[in-house]
Amino acid sequence: MLSQVHTTVKWAKNKFHSTEYNDDELSIFDEKQIYNVHSFQKTHSAYTKTPLHQLKQLAEHIQVADLRVKDESYRFGLNAFKVMGGIYAIGKYVADRLGMSMEDLSFAALQAPQVKEKLGELTFISATDGNHGRGVAWAARELGHKSVIYMPKGSSQQRLAAIQREGAYADITEVNYDETVRMCANLAHENGWIMVQDTAWEGYDDIPLWIMQGYASMAKEIVEQLQEDNAQPPTHIFLQAGVGSFAAAIAGYMVHTYRDNPPVIVVVEPDQADCYYRSFCNEDGKREIVSGDMNTIMAGLACGEPNTRAFRLLSQYATGTFSCSDNISALGMRVYGNPLQSDPRVISGESGAVTLGLLYYLRKLSDDPKLCSVISLDSDSRVLVISTEGDTDPAHYQKVVWEGLCPN
Ligand SMILES: Cc1ncc(COP(=O)(O)O)c(C=O)c1O
Repeated sequence: MLSQVHTTVKWAKNKFHSTEYNDDELSIFDEKQIYNVHSFQKTHSAYTKTPLHQLKQLAEHIQVADLRVKDESYRFGLNAFKVMGGIYAIGKYVADRLGMSMEDLSFAALQAPQVKEKLGELTFISATDGNHGRGVAWAARELGHKSVIYMPKGSSQQRLAAIQREGAYADITEVNYDETVRMCANLAHENGWIMVQDTAWEGYDDIPLWIMQGYASMAKEIVEQLQEDNAQPPTHIFLQAGVGSFAAAIAGYMVHTYRDNPPVIVVVEPDQADCYYRSFCNEDGKREIVSGDMNTIMAGLACGEPNTRAFRLLSQYATGTFSCSDNISALGMRVYGNPLQSDPRVISGESGAVTLGLLYYLRKLSDDPKLCSVISLDSDSRVLVISTEGDTDPAHYQKVVWEGLCPN
């Protein structure tokens, strides 16, 4: 007997969405700053641009004018985008301690033995679902420093092992993501370690800002790749959110770049950790926090507390947010992995695929046309999605894509 499958796709409009351009708020993404961030990231020998694929056949199939996907599984051989934040934030922290400017600074300059002689061995600590911690551990090791990484209860053993292979001390806690963050902040304070967290809170804002700037250079790559292809800018960008740093960074750079005709920004979350959805549902748009276990296959998005800066940005520039059940992400993984005719195949993990899963659902499966009209999604739309991770938990990837876990 077939089991009853429950699909949830809920929409919340951002009542405070504004097309007014705020120079102050967006100056962190100005071209010169992100150029410097990107230039630093590019000095690492393992740097390569990740592909921006055009999914022509799928665009035709779901009746949109254009569909592009940035495939972050190719990032620095780490299978996810997150290292773009870690490498820049750790580099900037070390450079600041040495009184060096990031302009024209190379990764190799920070690897020089004199740096360690001056600063001693540093320890960076972070809480993570997997991808961010792996990026931090990798960047710390590349610069000759130590890292300590904690993951929330229920985290994948395969993701833990991947972090340990980067040389970190890493373990899984008995508490959820947000409590693991607090635990790491206390350990940093007690031991004189440096907290490298991808979310900001009152009194902790610099490193999360640098992490967001590190992510924004992916948007810069996308803009360059679209130009190289003589393609028109996207009309819609679907962005998955955990704490929202990634979504806010990409949205911020894109709104800054295309300020005369900004794209529709659509935030996408798991229904078990939909802090942006719940906040946008509030009449006064107050930041809402989700607590508890946040049991979702989208481990990277299982965060209940929006980053305060990201929240400010997305409260202004996002049109709204969709809260989705796990089978929307599983749908995206399967569509990516089984392309139509000449479209390229993309290996996309649970947190990477939810945006494509949602797009497919809205265009092909939903019987509620309002869900497309609230974001003005139609056959003229040019959609951009970012597959933020590959199969970072390969066993679970197979369960979903081969064995049909989380059916629609
Ligand atoms: C693969 C993946 N995609 C998206 C995100 C969301 O990023 P953020 O927490 O900045 O919203 C994460 C976060 O860990 C992630 O691992």
